Amino acid sequence: MTKVLIATEKPFSKETVSNISSCIEKAGFTSVLLESYTSKAQLIQAVSDVSAIIVRSDVIDKEVIEAAQNLKIIVRAGAGYDNIDIAAASNKGIVVMNTPGQNANAVAELVFGLMIYHIRTAFSGKTGSELKGKNIGIHAFGSIGKIVAKIAQGFGMNVYAFDPYVSHDIIEAEGVVSLGTAQELYTNCQFISLHIPATEKTKESINYSLLSKMPKNAVLINTARKEVVHENDLQRVLEERSDFSYLSDIAPGNQNILKEKYADRVLFTAKKSGAQTAEANSNAGIAAAKQIIAFITKGVTTYQINK
Ligand code: 3PG
Repeated sequence: MTKVLIATEKPFSKETVSNISSCIEKAGFTSVLLESYTSKAQLIQAVSDVSAIIVRSDVIDKEVIEAAQNLKIIVRAGAGYDNIDIAAASNKGIVVMNTPGQNANAVAELVFGLMIYHIRTAFSGKTGSELKGKNIGIHAFGSIGKIVAKIAQGFGMNVYAFDPYVSHDIIEAEGVVSLGTAQELYTNCQFISLHIPATEKTKESINYSLLSKMPKNAVLINTARKEVVHENDLQRVLEERSDFSYLSDIAPGNQNILKEKYADRVLFTAKKSGAQTAEANSNAGIAAAKQIIAFITKGVTTYQINK
């Protein structure tokens, strides 16, 4: 019997779970649910006999992979797959996929939610400021960056982007100014929105050299991964510049110090919320289920990461 495990420490909406389960069951498979779990042991037990797993930011490390005796495929319902030990999966011949773009709109909308809340002084009644006419720099122009650009244009912002993996032509076709270096982006833009993945190359790459160059009343918005920001450098910039703010969907390791020292200039969501909308849950969750079915029944490997 082909068992598909939905393992989500941060659950999908009830409706999404029910739709994923019926999709899996219509294909003749069995669906198993492990949500809001509190220990790795629960995950290890749940994976033991399943053929496929759907996860979100759940950590699928070597130990979990080793414990899964029948596992053929892991699908990360979302974009970033830094939570999965790809090498360990590849070693066991397990296919790993993501569902790119499926939750991009939700993340892009959160960027503006964070910005508006912050520049309107947390709706405290104190005088705030506006986005119109300001420069925003989009660091990485993938599915999310592209939507951020469109929304920013709607606000009347001047939109810039830097992405060494996307051609100038593709970026400029969206009405966005494409810059050749990260330095130029940070020097030009009061608002910077991060959309880079966490890789060995990008970890701690958002450092003092970039952040200190941002113009007056700088705001760094991070809905990507906390690891990409150099936390000590960030603290140094917040200390040196009373006009610098950091808004993040993933609280940094030093969040308590930052909140205590720079209360009005830092904002962290209580739990990573970028993709936590009914729509994003449904898009990414159903896409994951369909990818599993297509792989197991027809060998379709679209969106496989470890090809
Ligand atoms: C992603 O990489 O898709 C986002 O960070 C969403 O993560 P989540 O599914 O844990 O909310």
